[in-house]
This record gives sequence, C-alpha cells and structure tokens, in this order.
Amino acid sequence: MCGIVGYTGPRPVLPLLIGGLRKLEYRGYDSAGVALQTGVELVVAKAVGRLSCLEERVAGIPGDGFLAGMGHTRWATHGRPSDINAHPHGDCRGRFAVAHNGIIENYRSLRERLRGSGHHFSSETDTEVIPHLIEEAYRGDLASAVRSVAGLLRGSFALVAMAASEPGLLVAVRKDSPLIVGLGDGENFLASDIPAILEYTKSCYILDDGELVVADQRCVEVQDLTGRVRHKPVFQVPWDVAVAERGGYPHFMLKEIHEQPQAVRETLRDRIKEGELALDEFGLDGDAARALRRLHLVGCGTAYHACLVGKYLIEKLARLAVEVDLASEFRYRDPMVETGSLLVAVSQSGETADTLAALREGKRQGARTVAISNVMGSSITREAGSVFYTRAGLEQAVASTKAYVTQLVALMLLAVDLGAKRGTVPEAERAELIEAIQKLPELAEEVLKLAPAIDNLARQVAQWEDAFFIGRGLDYAVALEGQLKLKEISYIHAEAYAAGELKHGTLALIVERIPVIALATQPPVLDKMISNITEVRARGGRIIAVCSNEEELAPYADDLILLPACHPLLMPVLAVMPLQLLAYYAAVHLGCDVDKPRNLAKSVTVE
Ligand code: AGP
Repeated sequence: MCGIVGYTGPRPVLPLLIGGLRKLEYRGYDSAGVALQTGVELVVAKAVGRLSCLEERVAGIPGDGFLAGMGHTRWATHGRPSDINAHPHGDCRGRFAVAHNGIIENYRSLRERLRGSGHHFSSETDTEVIPHLIEEAYRGDLASAVRSVAGLLRGSFALVAMAASEPGLLVAVRKDSPLIVGLGDGENFLASDIPAILEYTKSCYILDDGELVVADQRCVEVQDLTGRVRHKPVFQVPWDVAVAERGGYPHFMLKEIHEQPQAVRETLRDRIKEGELALDEFGLDGDAARALRRLHLVGCGTAYHACLVGKYLIEKLARLAVEVDLASEFRYRDPMVETGSLLVAVSQSGETADTLAALREGKRQGARTVAISNVMGSSITREAGSVFYTRAGLEQAVASTKAYVTQLVALMLLAVDLGAKRGTVPEAERAELIEAIQKLPELAEEVLKLAPAIDNLARQVAQWEDAFFIGRGLDYAVALEGQLKLKEISYIHAEAYAAGELKHGTLALIVERIPVIALATQPPVLDKMISNITEVRARGGRIIAVCSNEEELAPYADDLILLPACHPLLMPVLAVMPLQLLAYYAAVHLGCDVDKPRNLAKSVTVE
C-alpha cells in the first residue's frame, strides 16, 4: 500500500526512481509522482493512473543531472486519486518535498493551525501538512526540522523529505509503516520494500519505529527522535533479482501458484527431522503447551481464512479452545485475553496495521505472542514474542496464494505439535499425520497439473455474474478463501456459505443455472454435503464439485475437479489450488489486471 523510493548518488535519478516504483507496483496504487533535486531547486512531476502516465508526464525532463530524488506510488486514503493529491507534496514556496506512506490522524487540526498562520494548501491529503510543518520548523537543517515535525504527527508514517537548499540530502523517518535504507558504495537508497533496491544492493538497514535517517551519497546515519545516533545491524537480503521477477510466467499470481509445492517444501525443511517435529520457533515446550487454556488466532483477509483452518485443526488435535478474530475487529470488541493464553498473529507481510494492533492488544492483556509471517524483519515479527517464518519466498501478486498454503502448513504443524505435547494425539496418529504432511509438496504438484482443465472451466466462470461456494468444516474455510480469490481478481460477485446454512436463507437465491462450487473433501460430513448439493440441484443450480472421491460425487456434479487422495485434515492445502487457478484464469479471460486488482493493495499498512 503506497510505495516510496529515494535515491542519492551519481546514477541518472529519474529512471532509477521510476524503475524502483515499478518494482513496488504490486503494493497497489492509483497515482504516482517524483521530486528531483537539481542542487538549486526541486522539480516535481505527478500523474494519476499507472506509472506509464507518470512516464508520459516526465518525458521532457532529462534522466540525469539530478543529485537526489524521491518517487512515490499513492493508494488513496484522504482525497480521491488525482494529479494534485499524488505525492510528493510541497510547502508554500516549493522549497521542500515530502512523500509519505500511512495516515496522519491529526491532520485536520494541524491544517487549520497552518492555514491560520498563512499557509496555502493545494491538495485534499493528510500528507500535505508535513511539508508545511517542515517549512515552519526549518532553520537551515532538514534533519532537525523533520525530527521536530515527527513529534507533532499522530498516526502512522514512513516519510521522506528533501530540501532544495541541501543538495544530495534525504531525510526519512518511520512510525508503523515500513521503510528500509539500501546501502551502496557512493550512493544510498530508501524504499518501502526490498524489491525496489535489489538491483543495486543487498545490504540494508530495516528501520524501527521512531528512527530517523539522514542520508547523502557518502553516508547514512540512523538516529532516534532525540538525535542520538543508533548503530544498526546490516541486513543482507537472502534472495536476488531473479526471484523478484516473473520467471517466464505472464503474471506473478500464476508464478506464485506454481511455486506452492516448493513453498510448502521449504516451510517444512528442518521442521520435521526423522519423523519428529522440531518447532522451537513457536516457543512452546511441553509444560507451556499443557498449561495453555485458550489460543487466539488473528489475521485479515486470506490470513484470517488460514486462521479458520487453524482453529479447526487445533481444537480437533490439541483439544484446546481457539478463538479466531478478524484482526480489524479484535481490539474494538474489548476481547477477553487471559494472562498466559497464546495469541498467534498470522500475516504474510508482517506489516498489516490491523494485525499489528491486534498483536499489541494481546500483549497488553498479558498473552504470549507468536507471529506466523513470511517477511523477515517485518513489524509484526519484531514485536511478537516468537516467530515462525513461512518460507514462501517473495509474494508479489496482491492475491495471496503461496503465502496462504504455507500459513496452513504452519498451523498444521502447530496443531500436531500441540496435540502431541498435550497428549491428545495418539502416537500412531501423530506419525501418520507427519508422514502425510511430508507428502504435501508432491500432491500439490499433482493438483497443479489440473491447470489446463481448469483454464477451460474458467471460460464458463468468466461469463458468470455471481457464484456461490459451499462446504462443511474445513471445506467451509477453504470455500471462504475460494470466493475471496474469485472476487478480488475477477470482480465476479461471490459468496461462501457453510453448506448447512443455505437452507436458512441463501437457498432463495439458487435458481436455474446459478453456479455453486461445492467442496466435498471431508469424509465425516460427505453424506451431509451430498444432501446440500442435491438441495441446490433440485433448484436448478449448477454444481462444480471439488473432491477426491469421484464415485460418490460424479452423479451430483455438472463438473468435477478431482483431487488426489490425502489425509482429510490436510486437504485444505490441495483443495484451495483449483480455486486459485479458477479465479486466475477467469480474471485473465475477463481481461482483468490480475496482479494489481483495482482498489487493493498488497500490504495494508493503514487501518
Ligand atoms: C488476499 O488475497 C489479500 N491480498 C488479503 O486478504 C491479505 O491476505 C490481507 O490483506 C492480509 O495480509 P497479510 O497476510 O500481509 O497480513
């Protein structure tokens, strides 16, 4: 959500900034802009729309001849997407430029006060107060001005500032919104995320909240907000540019769907050794696992759907009460978190503002906390008591796929481990589950061979206006994820229901040819599921069944997606893949922008 790139050094600044912004496109945006420093003045260009619109706008500006610059992709929060509202923003006389990610919650009162003292605003954004505040505070030293302005701001921010009168200098500060510093030789970088700078350096500082950076081409200094220097460890990025590229696939989403077997394999590596689980990362020894009376799972969107699977597995295998919350609701419902309970925050990016806030609420109420995250050094991983890293690799498509299946694997491992430690899973069942988990990568490869058949089916799906997904138990949790995938990238209206709920209201919508995707992978409720499918068929609904039992389901389905046999508790990992492919191909057939769906951002760093 919003992207920042900053550069100081000898390279042609403009193409470097645009290239960096392109690498951050996956975060989601609706307008973009750059500010360039000549050594005497600041040149600013902005355009609503895709980066190509900004490129057209800057066509007349030479690429080089600038000492430093910043670029920004904006995802609108305050003020509609427009040229004026795009960042960077300036002060009254164009002496300062600021690009900002996050939300300034007290911008109204700040703007009123600034207006009262004669400042003129040109945009509707919260951000614009920042350059005006800098203008007021500036006494010839940008770092001091930004430091004092940071103290006035409430909310979340990662911001970069430049002054026309301080050639080659970038000053940045972070609170609750990610920002990294790329360390080069005779050049330095700032960015919201690693892909933007990976072409130039793998060494970086990951800034913490309340840290301010002063960077020119020769040196980078990290300070706290009192101006004291902080010595930070250099983080070496463990992957390279090739990983961040599409590798021959037309979209990141398709690449990431096909990377799932490997992502699962990586997530399991070293965590099962000679048939035994080695899960120290959860920070739960036998005594701690036995002492637990309640577990909370929190996440948003797809991560929340993973939590629903986690609840089912943990309650079943570990006989431990699990509460699942949408992280955006958690802290506002006055939750009861017993001291000593465990709160697990699930977040691919580790930067989701709501999930971070839920984690903090759990900590405040005395819970032990664990993060399940895919991004090393992200905010949630730094604040949680322990961290289990999924190893899905960089996920760039806005629609989460490989991160989701690795979250499922993490929660499956946690459930089996808790069950073993609490003595609720008999030894033989534990061994059977561990063996079955290890087979998941191969089975996932088999499922992905269905891609061409699903592409065919997706041609019909692309004609639909509505779709329903139904399932029971674990299948219901997967149905929720399937409907989210379909609507977020193809914009087809989709809803998921627990199959038994249909007759309590939604069956009224089932008429001739209404498509219903029925997940039927759970033997204990298969008969019940078949009854629900027949209820749909009796009203003329059209059934696409996802199952591993052809004989039982074929008589009731218009189309069948057949999964390989697998332990029923692990089925969500396999069952979701055809749904991801169905959504992907339907979106492609509809000509949608698959990797960057409208209005959505990859990493949702505002509430
Ligand atoms: C799913 O495809 C979405 N991109 C979205 O629901 C996502 O899972 C959610 O925003 C949570 O993100 P996180 O895992 O990075 O916290």
